[in-house]
Amino acid sequence: MSALSDRPTNPVVGESLPHEAASLHVTGQALYTDDLVGRLPGTLHAHPVQAPHAHARVTRLDVSAAYDVPGVVRVLTADDVPGVNDAGIKHDEPLFPSEVMYYGHSVCWVLGETLEAARLGSLAVEVDYEPLPALVTVKDAIAADSFQGGQPRMERGDIDAGFEAATHVFSGEFEFAGQEHFYLETHCSLAQVDENGQVFVQCSTQHPTETQDIVAHVLGTPSHAVTVQCLRMGGGFGGKEMQPHGYAAIAALGATLTGRPVRLRLTRNQDITMSGKRHGFHAQWRVGFDDTGHLVALDATLTADGGWSLDLSEPVLARALCHIDNAYWIPNVRVNGRIAKSHKTSQTAFRGFGGPQGMLVIEDILGRCAPLLGLDPIDLRRRNFYVHGQATPYGQPVRHPERAVTCWEQVLTTGDVAARQAEIAAYNSIHEHSKRALAMTPVKFGISFNLTAFNQAGALVHVYKDGSVLINHGGTEMGQGLHTKMLQVAATALGVPLSMVRLAPTRTDKVPNTSATAASSGADLNGGAVKNACEQITERLRSLAGERFEVAPAEVTFSDGMVSGGGESMPWAEFVNLAYFNRIQLWAAGYYRTEGLHWDSSIMQGSPFKYFAYGVAATEVEVDGFTGAYRTRRVDIVHDVGDSLSPLVDIGQVEGGFVQGAGWLTLEDLRWDESDGPNRGRLATQAASTYKLPSFSEMPEEFNVALLEQAHEDGAVYGSKAVGEPPLMLAFSVREALRQAAAAFGPAGTSIDLASPATPEAVWWAIQEARGGAEPPHMTAMVEGGTGVVPDQPGNGAHPIEPRSERAQRVSSGA
Ligand code: MTE
Ligand code: MOS
Repeated sequence: MSALSDRPTNPVVGESLPHEAASLHVTGQALYTDDLVGRLPGTLHAHPVQAPHAHARVTRLDVSAAYDVPGVVRVLTADDVPGVNDAGIKHDEPLFPSEVMYYGHSVCWVLGETLEAARLGSLAVEVDYEPLPALVTVKDAIAADSFQGGQPRMERGDIDAGFEAATHVFSGEFEFAGQEHFYLETHCSLAQVDENGQVFVQCSTQHPTETQDIVAHVLGTPSHAVTVQCLRMGGGFGGKEMQPHGYAAIAALGATLTGRPVRLRLTRNQDITMSGKRHGFHAQWRVGFDDTGHLVALDATLTADGGWSLDLSEPVLARALCHIDNAYWIPNVRVNGRIAKSHKTSQTAFRGFGGPQGMLVIEDILGRCAPLLGLDPIDLRRRNFYVHGQATPYGQPVRHPERAVTCWEQVLTTGDVAARQAEIAAYNSIHEHSKRALAMTPVKFGISFNLTAFNQAGALVHVYKDGSVLINHGGTEMGQGLHTKMLQVAATALGVPLSMVRLAPTRTDKVPNTSATAASSGADLNGGAVKNACEQITERLRSLAGERFEVAPAEVTFSDGMVSGGGESMPWAEFVNLAYFNRIQLWAAGYYRTEGLHWDSSIMQGSPFKYFAYGVAATEVEVDGFTGAYRTRRVDIVHDVGDSLSPLVDIGQVEGGFVQGAGWLTLEDLRWDESDGPNRGRLATQAASTYKLPSFSEMPEEFNVALLEQAHEDGAVYGSKAVGEPPLMLAFSVREALRQAAAAFGPAGTSIDLASPATPEAVWWAIQEARGGAEPPHMTAMVEGGTGVVPDQPGNGAHPIEPRSERAQRVSSGA
């Protein structure tokens, strides 16, 4: 056990506690950024002028008429920017663009005494556009050779030899959709300027430091003149990792120009049409199996649909490549990645950060190939698991592969899988128009930022003379329970009851140079920093206690609110007061960096992850043959969170992540107008009325979540593991169960090509395909596994699994 992972006796970590703000959340008392507006008299409201073209040049911008609208105070345009007119860190995102790059792009912003005045003002602004050709789909972009950023390749083994050795070779294509974050709180910033020109921006941001950087760039000031605070977010899910910066900069610019507070809060329609989403991907692949159903070779090209600018597309793509193996050993691999540049919102981080997209490709391949190999998908997946001693395609040894096996076996047992499969077979044999299926899928997800430098964090811990403790750390709270965990870490490290510890909002003037609260690493990184700060304090107290109790400092203990040694003890508060009078510093700045990481992005090799999080899910669905509608009858999950810091919070994360993943894969349908009409490129699903989110009616009827036991992780704070993102990918089991249920409408051995999202409509088409016979029309080429030398071109020598049938294509591309 390492010092970092070791737990003292009676730790506060590991206790099942409600989220620290749960009662505030549910009573409506929790303050979000926009709730602060009422506390600031004279606040101006910002409204964008959104362009009605997917791609166009701005040929004239005349804002004068806006000033005739009562209540309009100021219109912000590119001419107002004292610093850099850019909202990103790649400098490819003009804040006030002269070329419109997506439908709804804001060309300028109007500030009004009321939001309504600003809205009316925005309607009065005159803009002339020269429409330009727009690339709306990823296939449009590929055909036009429209790419942006680097094109990484990840390679291991000998791909040609692998295919030569393979006895079954298949190839195919797969295009799958992105996802809207749909956080309940839309993007929001509130900026003020003080008498010294110090800018204070309250912002719903996962990355206060970067928001600060961008605001400073736009204003042309040093970072010390800008402070960013985040009270909490009403959900971020990755959508507030990079996207808030431009909005914060608009608010800050408005505040500096008018001297009044400026509030910018997007309406739902604005948020959904302006902010980036999960990347949809296109994948082309060829896979080889040996006679025993083991993967021997995978050759794939992943194209992420990046939208109009780079944003986080490069690291998202890197994580996709690093997760195409999921939990499976693939000896010979070659994966190429590229980022399409299209005329859509700039796609961004979303829970899993590319990992889900990489893993979806391999899970789709296994789900499609299992019937063709004559294997049960449960068996095919299980036999390809990593074993000890193997490494990922990017060269990182896979530590603890046995945990995936333990999770798998536990789900088999507690989920009563064998008996239920027999029941399902019996049910299907007597129901012609309704079919059930059960699928199991594993998750292996790498924890840490790929870019080594981001794996650092800071904290500030104050112990006051009365013994009460105030902590501050660099992470942000978005509902995931990070603050709850940090309170537990501080209470554990100081040996005081939780009630003595309070947490102050995240601010860049308290803890500087922070990383985004992302990559699920919030608790690992900030927990390390909080613990470090607390230990600096206890180290100092230890010397005094040693003298006082006449024992060696190492023998002094801090536990349950008492400082003890040599049989004597003193209440924490009393001892702290004594320490103050002995002139001992009672506060400390903590720091943590994750050791042992290295990553070379140029060759896509290294050990970028501190450890892997594992999990397994089994999902049973029932599909109606007339409509394609389905129910999730039961879900069983065993997930590895190490020794949990906060079990209730972690179970909430597993449940929430799973449901959000199921939403992405089965319900949430982003439809962009692909027609050549005037609305080309417009997002057609821009409200909850048309963009369907999971709700109570889609919850699994039986939902069993267990945390893996005896799962101590030596490399992380108090033996825990990250939990924020990995469970999202347990939802592949839902998609695979739907695939199997659709296949059950056809003869045994039917391979199903299922669109993603697998909406009821898409499932219905899959059922029609299955009913078409053993070999659905579009799969007739794929008779038997291929052997021998396989030429390099996909589809040439391999047996192609064609892209979605025309019907499925239509399903996913209608307006
Ligand atoms: N849980 C809630 N309730 N709300 C969120 O916005 N974001 C997810 C996950 N869980 C999110 C959430 C994402 S994308 C990440 S990266 C992690 O939380 C970030 O927090 P952590 O690093 O503290 O786990
Ligand atoms: Mo999470 S997508 O890393 O913010």
